[in-house]
Amino acid sequence: MKRMTMSNLQIEQFTARTDNFGVLIHDPDANLTASIDAPEEKPILDALGRRGWTLTHIFTTHHHMDHVEANAALKKRFGVEIIGPEDEKAQIPGIDRAVGHGERFKFGNFDVDVIATPGHTAGEISFHIPAAKIAFTGDTLFSLGCGRLFEGTPAMMFKSLQRLVALPGETEIYCGHEYSESNARFALTIDPENSALKERARQITALREAGLPTLPTTLLREMATNPFLRWYDPSIRKNLNMEKASDEAVFAEIRKRKDNF
Ligand SMILES: [Fe+2]
Repeated sequence: MKRMTMSNLQIEQFTARTDNFGVLIHDPDANLTASIDAPEEKPILDALGRRGWTLTHIFTTHHHMDHVEANAALKKRFGVEIIGPEDEKAQIPGIDRAVGHGERFKFGNFDVDVIATPGHTAGEISFHIPAAKIAFTGDTLFSLGCGRLFEGTPAMMFKSLQRLVALPGETEIYCGHEYSESNARFALTIDPENSALKERARQITALREAGLPTLPTTLLREMATNPFLRWYDPSIRKNLNMEKASDEAVFAEIRKRKDNF
């Protein structure tokens, strides 16, 4: 019997606007290409051109302008299908399909799982593709950081991050912005003795000096270094004088300190 094999998902990450990331994913068997968010038309067109791909989908994480600005232009140019968060559908230009927590949809041969990750905005979602071991976390989880709470509460963001840390540790994390350098400076004020964090901060400095992106990261690496995922850590709790506080209170304190950093 002939065995069917599935090609790997191909990924192209690039920068857009000032510090946004654009990401394209391509299923070569189905000849489908999705843009994760649509921060800016030109860099997306350039990336498509480099790879010789035609855009068929946009997966939108949340409604902020720097994630949806090119939706209308790309839809006009390619007739793409735009898939985005149910709870923000009124704010997503050109949305065709609204999806919510726990929903699974097909992208070519790949299943895409929708995870509700509100906090940065009230309806933000993340996309997880288990077979490719990747997740797109928008402005919820960054390398060494998490999104600012524009519309949600610390409790909402805490729950959202718990959902993301439940994914397999080897999951590669792509996110919406290159914020790693300033995040590292802040993380070191919360967790100064963490040797994995110190090493990661050195790596980040070297990558940025070479003009290279610090993303993707992996969930395991973030769990070892990102203070927003380390609410349980005894030395962080000691530094914050919160040894007996709840996990959520520790998270909220770290988020508050970052807001004032
Ligand atoms: Fe945002």
